[in-house]
Amino acid sequence: MASTTERRPAHDSVMLAEIVDALAPALDKPGARIVDVTLGLGGHSAALLAAARPDATLLGLDRDPHALEIAGRNLVAFGERAIPRHARFSDLARVLDELGWDRVDAILADLGVCSMQLDEAERGFSFQRDGELDMRMDPTRGESAADLLGRLTQGELAELLRDLGEEPEARRIARALCRDGGEGRPRTTATLRAAIVRAVGGRANRRHDPATLTFQALRIAVNDELGELESLLALLPERLARGGRAAVLAYHSLEDRIVKQYFRSWSARCVCPPELPICRCGGKARAVRLTSGAARPTAEETARNPRARSARLRALEWVDER
Ligand SMILES: C[S@@+](CC[C@H](N)C(=O)[O-])C[C@H]1O[C@@H](n2cnc3c(N)ncnc32)[C@H](O)[C@@H]1O
Repeated sequence: MASTTERRPAHDSVMLAEIVDALAPALDKPGARIVDVTLGLGGHSAALLAAARPDATLLGLDRDPHALEIAGRNLVAFGERAIPRHARFSDLARVLDELGWDRVDAILADLGVCSMQLDEAERGFSFQRDGELDMRMDPTRGESAADLLGRLTQGELAELLRDLGEEPEARRIARALCRDGGEGRPRTTATLRAAIVRAVGGRANRRHDPATLTFQALRIAVNDELGELESLLALLPERLARGGRAAVLAYHSLEDRIVKQYFRSWSARCVCPPELPICRCGGKARAVRLTSGAARPTAEETARNPRARSARLRALEWVDER
């Protein structure tokens, strides 16, 4: 049933000013080529285009066709300067080749899902809304969370909850969810949450809803989020121009850890194995980190937008001459 007060899909872009600042010198290059690999509703992209020179162009990727459609509308004022594409991080090399973009000046990744996706009950991302347990950012392809849950063995599910959710009760939850065999497993967000609460709800002192970490683990698995992030980071040395800048916003420790490791290895002066008696790599850092550790949103921002609470921003400048 259509609601009488139609709500516009919304997303509050996180650490917007900090991101524009971190990328500013790259945006200011003549004819800058900018890539936002997580277009979402286009909030960051609009700010980047507004801060860049008038001849800058922005390629925006999103794997969610619905987000892409809204972003296209939100960026219409930028005309041909904004190029939205339905693609994943792992398609980026191909899309850049299609555009004839060898290297780019700025790359932004604002990981995870946007508020609009969480707000749409039928997408199945949120245990606060009842809907089909889908969780695919791109509903046109791949396996839903319900189908994944239906086919895993108890051992595989426990491993997934432990590795991708860091869920301390992984085994207990997996046992409860697999009790009735494949047929009886939850296919909606509400039945999944209820089963988790029954399994662990009475146990002491949990910091968040008992379903939080299970939902996180399933979402990461369904969308291969860590594999996608690795494929994006592995591409940066080939595609970021010298003097180019990259910014990555992560929302949980698994993805932030991966970003940190890549950024640290590129900014290390010597990457020779410790057993080598002398340095053979030339001892030159390939990138300079622009954030010391990870930058966090201000208290004012998290008060206004609680979804920003877990954000960690890392940024770098590529200095490699190769
Ligand atoms: C946090 S939102 C981005 C919000 C955006 N920065 C804004 O200001 O509106 C993340 C977006 O990235 C998309 N996304 C996540 N992983 C992706 C991937 N591997 N490839 C392409 N898009 C992805 C999601 O569909 C979602 O729309």
